[in-house]
Amino acid sequence: MERTYIMVKPDGVQRGLVGEIIKRFEQRGYQLMALELMHPTQQHLEEHYKDLAGKGFFAGLIKYMQSGPVVGMVWAGKDVVKTGRAMLGATNPLASAPGTIRGDFSLDVGRNICHGSDSVESAEREIALWFPRGVPEYKRDISVHGLIYE
Ligand code: RTP
Ligand code: MG
Repeated sequence: MERTYIMVKPDGVQRGLVGEIIKRFEQRGYQLMALELMHPTQQHLEEHYKDLAGKGFFAGLIKYMQSGPVVGMVWAGKDVVKTGRAMLGATNPLASAPGTIRGDFSLDVGRNICHGSDSVESAEREIALWFPRGVPEYKRDISVHGLIYE
């Protein structure tokens, strides 16, 4: 099964939106594989966002991401990387459709609630970075599986 790394950012944690975000992935049919509240170091965040290191907003992004704890999660299921990004909404919340997480709960690009991996390759890189001890697999009850997948 495809996996993605979803992270509730400090603003989402402080605003009490962790349960709301979990709820949306659960009700869509995705499977929670790992979950942890973490206080990442600056170096850890710089590694996570290393593709953006040259951007003008990089320092502000790292500072924002270090302003409080984050909740990291691994979700699994069909096309979860692309669908997870669609559920999050556009990077700039003003361009995020209503019904998406960012479109329902945020306004500024620098306070956009949550992170989602942008490809299968970056998802696996991010899962290894945030859950270095590994993410064990488990099977859901077969009758539940049959209610989601044909
Ligand atoms: P994320 O990685 O956090 O899921 O966000 P994303 O893929 O939608 O966007 P990305 O380009 O990876 O940017 C990462 C985060 O940096 C902040 N950002 N600020 N001021 C700006 O123009 C700007 N652009 C991006 C956002 O918080 C974005 O989520
Ligand atoms: Mg990104």
